[in-house]
Amino acid sequence: MASPFAVAAYGAVRPWLFSLPAEDAHRLGLQALRLAQRLPLGLGLAMLDRLFATRDPSLAVEAFGLRFPNPVGLAAGLDKDADAPAAFAAIGFGMVEVGTVTPRAQPGNAKPRMFRLPEDDALVNRMGFPSGGATLARNHLWPWRHGLPGGAVLGINLGKNAATPVEEAARDYVATFDALHDLARYAVINVSSPNTPGLRALQSRDNLTRLASTVVARRDLVRSRMGRRIPILVKLAPDLDEPGLADVVGAAFDAGIDGLIATNTTLARPALRSTNSHETGGLSGAPLRDRATQVLRWLVREAGARLPVVAAGGIMGPDDVAARLDAGAVLVQAYTGVVYRGPGFAGEACAALVARR
Ligand SMILES: Cc1cc2nc3c(=O)[nH]c(=O)nc-3n(C[C@H](O)[C@H](O)[C@H](O)COP(=O)(O)O)c2cc1C
Repeated sequence: MASPFAVAAYGAVRPWLFSLPAEDAHRLGLQALRLAQRLPLGLGLAMLDRLFATRDPSLAVEAFGLRFPNPVGLAAGLDKDADAPAAFAAIGFGMVEVGTVTPRAQPGNAKPRMFRLPEDDALVNRMGFPSGGATLARNHLWPWRHGLPGGAVLGINLGKNAATPVEEAARDYVATFDALHDLARYAVINVSSPNTPGLRALQSRDNLTRLASTVVARRDLVRSRMGRRIPILVKLAPDLDEPGLADVVGAAFDAGIDGLIATNTTLARPALRSTNSHETGGLSGAPLRDRATQVLRWLVREAGARLPVVAAGGIMGPDDVAARLDAGAVLVQAYTGVVYRGPGFAGEACAALVARR
């Protein structure tokens, strides 16, 4: 069970972390987790598990043919290069989605490109997929090829290099899938990040059908070779209107996609109080909560019987986790909530789920 002391300790460190530029604080946090992950004899991982995780067999969830030890996942973007997947599993996440990984290394947009909006419990980012590339991610994932602590499920989030024309995007998604599929349990086609020009155009029905069919065909090819089926999910934007959402669902059906992740960050700017609210990029956290929940409900109503939906967007704590599961999500993922609440995020949410059973 998550230790209240460890959770409170983050409250003490947070003001200092928040005094640093957001991306520096992020790097420090990742480095600390990576260090713990590397301690000999798995001592660091055992310590993280002891301090933060809530383990309870009643939390297990089956989705797209996989078994998750609990429904609380780490959203893509926090561990882009798979620096600390085992540490995230040890602090209690039931799924760890690494990436977005692009096939070739690229620097992303100029810094600063990540901003806190503390008065709004939010972030704005225009990272633009900084990625060490598929080979680096492969090297980082190799030690965990036999599995993550606690049985957490590893996912890879696939993207395209900025220099690759949108018409040739499928080549990039397949290249990253080829490089990493044997080390992951599911893969995500990310067509919804707002900071790579043209990427969201891949959500149109024709483009997405073509792209997703290509990745699914590749999955089917390696399936016979590997003897294991890797579910393919599509992650979509909260800024799609109903016809746009219907297009994504239609393409997902046509291409034989296994599930959806709703949602990525938004370009919309609801009323915000923080000075950084004028920064360009994708908004995440509490102000995204209502729209992401609306999209989830629409997808569950229109497609949920055939397409499991993973909820993301404004899941800031245990109440949001429970509400999104109640709204029909099979699993949930968080990013901004982890920044604001700290490493106890998954353990606290799982403890609350156990308590309400
Ligand atoms: C700094 C930052 C970087 C992100 N990078 C990615 C990414 O590389 N790939 C992706 O699919 N989503 C990325 N996301 C989106 C998150 O995975 C998530 O969908 C979104 O932030 C909404 O969830 P939240 O409100 O819990 O943060 C990123 C989000 C943030 C804040």
